[in-house]
Amino acid sequence: MAILVTGGAGYIGSVAVEDLRAQNETVVVLDNLVYGHRKAVDSSVAFYEGDIGDASLVEKIIKQHNIEACMHFSAFAFVGESVEKPQIYYENNFVQTLKLLDVLIENNVKKFIFSSTCATYGEPQYVPIDEKHPQFPTSPYGWSKFMVERALVDYDAAYNLKYVALRYFNACGASEACGEDHHPETHLIPLVLFTAQGRRDSIAIFGDDYPTPDGTAIRDYIHISDLSQAHLLALKHLRVGGASEFINLGNGGGYSVKEVIEAARKITGADIKATVAPRRAGDPSRLVADAKKAREVLGWNPQYPEIERIIESAWTWHSLNPNGYE
Ligand SMILES: NC(=O)c1ccc[n+]([C@@H]2O[C@H](COP(=O)([O-])OP(=O)(O)OC[C@H]3O[C@@H](n4cnc5c(N)ncnc54)[C@H](O)[C@@H]3O)[C@@H](O)[C@H]2O)c1
Repeated sequence: MAILVTGGAGYIGSVAVEDLRAQNETVVVLDNLVYGHRKAVDSSVAFYEGDIGDASLVEKIIKQHNIEACMHFSAFAFVGESVEKPQIYYENNFVQTLKLLDVLIENNVKKFIFSSTCATYGEPQYVPIDEKHPQFPTSPYGWSKFMVERALVDYDAAYNLKYVALRYFNACGASEACGEDHHPETHLIPLVLFTAQGRRDSIAIFGDDYPTPDGTAIRDYIHISDLSQAHLLALKHLRVGGASEFINLGNGGGYSVKEVIEAARKITGADIKATVAPRRAGDPSRLVADAKKAREVLGWNPQYPEIERIIESAWTWHSLNPNGYE
């Protein structure tokens, strides 16, 4: 039997593919390469270039490879773009996911691991944020993920689909072979490292008057290898008949923008120029996960909680791959 990984040529999915293979799982990747990189997936992995909403292709894959479970990473994930173009976000992230689920269920594939996000919570009412925190997203991206979560609850009740929806906080870092190569890049750590490499003049700090110790916003950074391990544990959980769950993935601590830049200066030895810009609308001061449930239900134990190790892994990858995968 095999695991279908959608979005397996993307940043996080490609590491999950590596880790699944390291555990001797058979893997099949489905990615339309709109944002993914063919080179991020080893040439020995069964790879299909196509859409998750292409029912006949998905059915063919399920039958040909005897698919047991699906890890669903594929999505559009630019929050700002989702505000400008909500239609493509609801279509790609929600409608296409329903089409994928239809084919999985019709073919009796009923283990589903979903890449959800802390963006489903919206403006935090308290931190750390646990899974019971109210969900009211502030972007179409967040809503598109929330709508999938909602559908999963009903699909479990009606069709016995068993799922683990993992709500990631800020994914970052790199494995030896796979790193972050988004176009455009919007995440803090790669942008700071591009500044260290001289590919940018400076890094903007959006707001230094937040109610945090150094005035800059605090986020919960989580290494992609730790994220990936949580997917393997979620698969194990479903294989032994575990219940459907929503689970946060974060380190529970958090680092400020200034702390991230300072750590990057130490690791790269570069004088990374930072300039203060106004706060961005809708950016909360602190987004930190309560990740107790992941430890309790999945037995998850993150190996790279320190920002220095996270940045070090990303710096190594960007130094060896200065042009990303190209
Ligand atoms: N990166 C983060 O910090 C973060 C945080 C929370 C949640 N997530 C979620 O994790 C998942 C993976 O994120 P990522 O950073 O690896 O993104 P990514 O863009 O690197 O990977 C997504 C992959 O999905 C593919 N894809 C998109 N639409 C598709 C479709 N309709 N059919 C087939 N393939 C399609 C893209 O080509 C890409 O390879 C996403 O669902 C994202 O919403 C990411």
